[in-house]
Amino acid sequence: MLTRPIFLIGMPGSGKSSLGKRSANEMGLRYVDTDAMLCETLGGTVPEIFAKYGEEAFRTAEHNLLCWLVRQEPCLISTGGGMVMREENRRIMKNHGFIVLVDRPLEQILSDIKLDRRPLLAERGLEGVEQVYSSRIDYYRASADVIVHNDGDYYPGLEAMMKAILRLCPNAVERTRA
Ligand code: S3P
Repeated sequence: MLTRPIFLIGMPGSGKSSLGKRSANEMGLRYVDTDAMLCETLGGTVPEIFAKYGEEAFRTAEHNLLCWLVRQEPCLISTGGGMVMREENRRIMKNHGFIVLVDRPLEQILSDIKLDRRPLLAERGLEGVEQVYSSRIDYYRASADVIVHNDGDYYPGLEAMMKAILRLCPNAVERTRA
């Protein structure tokens, strides 16, 4: 059981969702993905929501969702890569939970990112991804309670993620009595 929500932050393509979902599964934790929730509530994919309502409306809905999530039972929460860019969001995550940065080197993000699923990055191209990375990396690092270095294969990243969760919430996995 988690005592506080754990927020996964980091660049698109850093592995927040894949490592988060699998860790939650292995550890029996409740898991939510803010992008998936927004897509369900607003209807459509993220690119469709951007096209229909604009980025600012998406950011406001994302902020409102965060405010709602911190009033629910604590769980593992994968956030959209832009969540940390609002100062208020950083404050809310810090005050109510723990923040884990999934840090993947830019070269690896560039080599495996699916640009077409991510409107901000798709619009800007590879050079733009570098710009987004350098404009955000300081915010990501300064916000993090723990950094998971997802700089190798999937399984070492998964192990690092589960260790980080246990470090923040030692009783995350309830032990069954012998
Ligand atoms: C965004 C990242 C996306 C999504 C939206 C904006 C960003 O989430 O919220 O496309 O600004 O970095 P992922 O980080 O899960 O791709």
